[in-house]
Amino acid sequence: MDTEENDITYRWEQWRRANRDFPRVREAELGALFTLLNPKPGEYIWESGTGNGNLTMPLAQAVVPGGKVVTTDVQLQNTAEVAKLAAERSLPVEALCLPLEAPLLVASQYVGVFDAVASIATLHHFDNRLEGTGEKGRIEALKVFFRALKPGGRLALADVLQDSLAQRYFDVIDNPEHAAPRGHPHDFFTKERLVEVVQQAGFTEVQVELQEVPWHFTSQAEAQIFVHTLHNAKVSPEESFEIAERMLGWNKKPEHYELGWDLFFLTARKPE
Ligand SMILES: C[S@@+](CC[C@H](N)C(=O)[O-])C[C@H]1O[C@@H](n2cnc3c(N)ncnc32)[C@H](O)[C@@H]1O
Repeated sequence: MDTEENDITYRWEQWRRANRDFPRVREAELGALFTLLNPKPGEYIWESGTGNGNLTMPLAQAVVPGGKVVTTDVQLQNTAEVAKLAAERSLPVEALCLPLEAPLLVASQYVGVFDAVASIATLHHFDNRLEGTGEKGRIEALKVFFRALKPGGRLALADVLQDSLAQRYFDVIDNPEHAAPRGHPHDFFTKERLVEVVQQAGFTEVQVELQEVPWHFTSQAEAQIFVHTLHNAKVSPEESFEIAERMLGWNKKPEHYELGWDLFFLTARKPE
């Protein structure tokens, strides 16, 4: 592995660590997507963007008995860790690491077979500003999601929307100090463009909503470690938190603290 690959691998290790050590922080967004997808026993589901498996496991529990979740990622450590976790819990998960140059399920065995495709916080990663890919990777992903579904199959996506709290935060940390090693060089769709590209991929019944899904913490110290680790920042945890507090808002609730967060939640269907 060269240094760049090592750095990227470490970046995603940190992402997993933050999510694993503080599994309740992102419950609102994960729960919202799970509810929208409404997985049922026996279903065959593709999740694109495994991460630490924080959506994979609940999906796998929901499709038992008889169903299965195929989860894909481009980081071997993500899929290896989730495959191990699923085996320990006897859950029906196939975790596949796909090459960065071909990060989608394109083989004929995956055409027209899934009841649903789900993805959270991942769509924007299919394009990279530093590589000038424009919208190409995301449009290709939507086309492959469509092809992979059975007629009548469901798509449930959650990701960052242009002109949102999350987008403005990502733009501020788009540098190697606040998000190592390459900043966060990703663009986001506006709501109008998102609907357009999803429809152009063939989907109908497209519904999109920007939803507030704040991150929950038990203390400010927890929030400092979470945002610092999540983005693999090189500045201090205090500085990482200061940016998050300024850009996202920090609120004390009766039982917990919150950092503001918002994502689009999209549902669509492949016509029968
Ligand atoms: C922000 S994480 C989200 C992970 C998980 N779905 C979650 O919400 O915790 C983005 C995921 O996209 C994957 N990824 C990174 N670059 C990618 C690419 N070029 N194509 C597809 N996936 C990529 C990462 O390995 C990571 O698991």
